[in-house]
Amino acid sequence: MCGIFAYLNYQVPRTRKEIFERLVKGLQRLEYRGYDSAGIAVDGPNKTASDIDGNSICLIKKMGKVKALDEELYKKDTLDLDEKLNTHFGIAHTRWATHGEPSALNSHPHRSDKDNEFVVIHNGIITNYKELKKYLINKGYEFESETDTEVIAKLIKYVYDNRENDSITFSALVETVIQQLEGAFALVFKSRHYPGEAVSTRRGSPLLIGVRSEHELSTEHIPVQYNSGHFKEGVQEKNSHNRPNCSDAIKSVGNGKAVEYYFASDASAVIEYTNKVLYLEDDDVAVVTKGELSIHRVNRQAGEDPVRAIQTLQMELQQIMKGNFDAFMQKEIFEQPESVVNTMRGRICFESNKVVLGGLKDHLKEIKRCRRLIMIGCGTSFHAAVATRQILEELTELPVMVELASDFLDRNTPVFRDDVSFFISQSGETADTLMALRYCKKHGALTVGITNTVGSTICRETDCGVHVNAGPEIGVASTKAYTSQFVALIMFALMMSEDRLSLQERRMEIINGLKVLPELIKQVLSLDLKIKDIANELYQQRSLLVMGRGFNYATCLEGALKIKEITYMHSEGILAGELKHGPLALIDTEMPVIMLIMRDACYVKCQNALQQVTARSGRPIIICCEGDSEMPKNAYQTIELPHTVDCLQGILSVIPLQLLSFHLAVLRGYDVDFPRNLAKSVTVE
Ligand code: F6R
Repeated sequence: MCGIFAYLNYQVPRTRKEIFERLVKGLQRLEYRGYDSAGIAVDGPNKTASDIDGNSICLIKKMGKVKALDEELYKKDTLDLDEKLNTHFGIAHTRWATHGEPSALNSHPHRSDKDNEFVVIHNGIITNYKELKKYLINKGYEFESETDTEVIAKLIKYVYDNRENDSITFSALVETVIQQLEGAFALVFKSRHYPGEAVSTRRGSPLLIGVRSEHELSTEHIPVQYNSGHFKEGVQEKNSHNRPNCSDAIKSVGNGKAVEYYFASDASAVIEYTNKVLYLEDDDVAVVTKGELSIHRVNRQAGEDPVRAIQTLQMELQQIMKGNFDAFMQKEIFEQPESVVNTMRGRICFESNKVVLGGLKDHLKEIKRCRRLIMIGCGTSFHAAVATRQILEELTELPVMVELASDFLDRNTPVFRDDVSFFISQSGETADTLMALRYCKKHGALTVGITNTVGSTICRETDCGVHVNAGPEIGVASTKAYTSQFVALIMFALMMSEDRLSLQERRMEIINGLKVLPELIKQVLSLDLKIKDIANELYQQRSLLVMGRGFNYATCLEGALKIKEITYMHSEGILAGELKHGPLALIDTEMPVIMLIMRDACYVKCQNALQQVTARSGRPIIICCEGDSEMPKNAYQTIELPHTVDCLQGILSVIPLQLLSFHLAVLRGYDVDFPRNLAKSVTVE
């Protein structure tokens, strides 16, 4: 949902070419967030000419992927690529269209006017942009794009044009602007009036700042400066209780020494330069002036942390590279033997059958006393909740609701103080899930995050939680995050049932199953060639049904989602118990149908469904347990998987469908990691 990247070098000489290369690489790392157009803004060629104030900004935007922008950059013969810039600030953006079709004009950065006095990049949606646009048009400002973002660029110019004193700071302008904005945003501003300065801010969309400096930063805490607002005609100040300015307390990073700053939507874009990062909070305004970083905001809220810590990332660059694989998705599928180990690492003691999730242990008593568990997510993360619901009910002996975040909110679902609500999200930034979290918080429920992104908004806003530790997931189609969410939720069920005598045998069975899970995943992955052959036979089909029930129903939903999102084939996950209630009408000799028939309590019922399919001359592809002699010999194809404990079987059974969707997409000629119309992190409702 749009990727933001910006780079500031202060007293670190870089050629313009080096700056371009950094901006492009940063965008490429974030391309999974949106890839319909991209653009950058850098200092222009006439830095010494004095048309307005001696500084100019050059905007380069291009429809298509970052590669197209990269080629475009080197066509600008007015920009001297070898020119050394001692201090420079460049901003860059890769877009996933929300308002306005993909085009160079609608792509970011957006500008305040034809002289590019202010330029801005944005991730999120401004919900009151129509009102602001109308107001600004009445004031004589002209718009050139169809985007919501352009109002921000025009609004900052409006505030600047109406300033009361000439010494107004760049950050003061931005503080005034964001008080007028409704919706979600992460923003980075550049201005020809403030050369070498950077201002960034966020509300609801992620933004972090990477710092690369000569001096030690590991223990640095940046105090927040609480400023008074700036009122202007027509621009309403939203908070009236201004706090005293505490600028004396400020200890900035940089201190005028050589330093580089990286602004990015996520850590994968900065990790090759620095592992020291600072995550901005909602309404923080981060400013770099003369190489010094400081954090400002208007008004301190009760309970708010007055400092921002610089954290050390544990991520390795190699974790976000493709290695020998053709696509990130493929790499991530094959990483699952290790990613599930990472989810379990240090949390399960296989000798004592103890499971400890450090992020939950202080809240365990409260969770055990709750009225019900509500598991909330979107897409694949929702499927992880569906997959584990049954074992959660069995081991916690609590009612478990599974909810799609958007529907949960649409229904104004009743939530009570003694509910425990779980927010499952790979990115930790999904807008619907985040809104549901805030809704549950407002209603007094305990909130628990199950996320894969340390420092994400959902991590920060929940009362407690579990990091699934699957490692960075770049492919838009989620794979290893799903199996790690699955394992994390099972571990939660095991932790909840530790003191239930009657459940010990069952717990041991599951813990033993988890112990050998990585080996079993490897066995499933070794079926890759066979699955590729099946894909070869199916790739020209229009539809693909996936049917199963019980512990494997979630696999059908998740498998069908993988197929539709990257192959663009129609695919439906069908609960086999519903077959007679409608879907059976779809079965004929042509319709490919994948049936999951595993050795569990639903085995006989699944066999019945199979008979109904074969009786209508359907040609099922059967996913079953190894050596199952009862499988019909007339199955069109059979994929045999190692058998495991019923509640873990879904971790294995989803993998052939992940592989199948991958091979189908490749055979159909699609870009696996960048499916059309989708983005990795959906930070808009
Ligand atoms: C499917 C997929 C999406 C996400 C959904 C939620 O492959 O990736 O369905 O699962 O957008 O995203 P997160 O988990 O980041 O909240």
